Amino acid sequence: MSANEIPTDRSTPARPDVQQSAFLRACRREPVPHTPVWFMRQAGRSLPEYRKVREGIAMLDSCMQPDLVTEITLQPVRRHHVDAAIFFSDIVVPLKAIGIDLDIKPGVGPVIERPIRSRADLDRLRELTPEDVPYVTEAIGLLTAELGATPLIGFAGAPFTLASYLVEGGPSRNHEHTKALMYGDPQLWADLLDRLAAITSAFLKVQIEAGASAVQLFDSWVGALAPVDYRRSVLPASRKVFASVAGYGVPRIHFGVGTGELLHDLGEAGADVVGVDWRVPLDEAARRVGPGKALQGNLDPAVLFAGAEAVAAKTGEVLEAARGLEGHVFNLGHGVLPDTDPDALTRLVADVHERTAR
Ligand code: CP3
Repeated sequence: MSANEIPTDRSTPARPDVQQSAFLRACRREPVPHTPVWFMRQAGRSLPEYRKVREGIAMLDSCMQPDLVTEITLQPVRRHHVDAAIFFSDIVVPLKAIGIDLDIKPGVGPVIERPIRSRADLDRLRELTPEDVPYVTEAIGLLTAELGATPLIGFAGAPFTLASYLVEGGPSRNHEHTKALMYGDPQLWADLLDRLAAITSAFLKVQIEAGASAVQLFDSWVGALAPVDYRRSVLPASRKVFASVAGYGVPRIHFGVGTGELLHDLGEAGADVVGVDWRVPLDEAARRVGPGKALQGNLDPAVLFAGAEAVAAKTGEVLEAARGLEGHVFNLGHGVLPDTDPDALTRLVADVHERTAR
């Protein structure tokens, strides 16, 4: 099957208890017993038990060990009682799996030896098959057996954000090489994003077919673009990704940072749930996104460094702005910061559950 074909009858048999979870119900804009909570980057350096099991194992190596992936994915579920698990991996894992010479440098992020900037470079981006990532299928099998009624979220990087790492060669503040390619050679850019859309689609399909109950597309750095450029140069590729997994019937979440001006267009790419960072209140975000979508967000992750009272007050503001939404999944406006006190996260989950119990 090609990456862009919509499958109709290949979805994993849905476990009924998972289907009735608060998280999936909120994504589907159905009534919930309480507002569900999970955190982007909930598995990771904020947890001492994570640092312990990761000792001496490089980030990308850890993503290829199913037992370790299972343990790390479960850690925040056990500790915080979040309403969903997110699969422990990274947005660059599928690129590594097809042979791109990249590494994740601690404290830096993904770094690529030879950036992708020419038509000849495109040949290095071949299609991804399930055989390239057997450890993903295996880990998700282990996880769904352990998770009970807790849904598992699969994820991938969106074409723009992956392109940014590949073209820049690493993390970038201004994305100048990426934008130079986008403005300077629109055809090469479109072909690059199409290849990345196919890889991302294939990676999401592997996760859904192995048992993931929802997927999130991370377009973390897309907020660097003006709406007109997003619509012209990025939206078509992201839309292909969402369309390619539409037939599975699992909720699709779309998230980016600094996307206040892009919220409507992000919704147009086809997700069921739009993630919102902390810069736009959720009621205003709902007006920008328009009807028919749930929202996810949006407590500033830095708020967790303030005292318990301040956290509770800011949490109240988020919940107040979320009152009229068709569906709300509580999350941070971006990932958990590494130095966050894990107890503050545990308290936050309990607080949201308590304040929204129906
Ligand atoms: O959310 C989770 O808990 C699941 C795991 C997850 C990781 N990366 C693990 C990870 C997820 C969902 C990601 C997504 C990811 N990776 C994104 C999108 C989310 C976002 O933050 O915007 C991006 C942009 C990346 C690329 C990336 N990988 C960065 C910027 C970094 C941080 C580099 C650093 O060390 O500061 C990574 C490495 C990474 N990915 C770590 C983890 C736990 C830290 C590495 C470590 O623990 O050694």
